[in-house]
Amino acid sequence: MSASVPASAPVPAALPTPARPTAKPTSAELLDFVRRAAADTDLIASLPLDAEGRTWVRLEGPQGSEAWLIGWPPGTGTGWHDHAESVGAFTTAAGTLKENSLAARLPTDGWKTLELAESVDRERRLATGQGRAFGRNHVHEVLNESTDQHAISVHAYYPPLPQIRRYSRTGAVLRLEHVERPEDWQ
Ligand SMILES: [Fe+2]
Repeated sequence: MSASVPASAPVPAALPTPARPTAKPTSAELLDFVRRAAADTDLIASLPLDAEGRTWVRLEGPQGSEAWLIGWPPGTGTGWHDHAESVGAFTTAAGTLKENSLAARLPTDGWKTLELAESVDRERRLATGQGRAFGRNHVHEVLNESTDQHAISVHAYYPPLPQIRRYSRTGAVLRLEHVERPEDWQ
């Protein structure tokens, strides 16, 4: 039995604002997305794995974000890089990943080498189910240090990656090696 609504039912003075599909996702929302995707066992099982190198599947991220499912054979890693102005999040869906990152706000442009202060290095291990969000200009490298176990992770970025800056690192010195743009990834 359904209740009938009287014609004179009062209208709330202010309706809650629905989430706008064009709203920019925050890094916390991206972290929520990657956690939910990592818990989707059918999705994780759909990623082709290759013992020789990393594998990728592009996912539809929330609110126009760029998302990826990535497979990491033992011993593979990204090298040092950042994601320019994009915020993002990632989580480990299988195995364990190690993230080395810099807890420093670096100048974004206008330099080729930078000597890092002691104390800016951070390390974290992200076991299955563990993830992190990050802000703009987050400089890091991600590695699967296992000798025998594949790792799988889910990543999301907003805005969709306009560029990735790649660095080499020798001791405390970070050197900008090249800038990749989306046309380089086609
Ligand atoms: Fe990254």
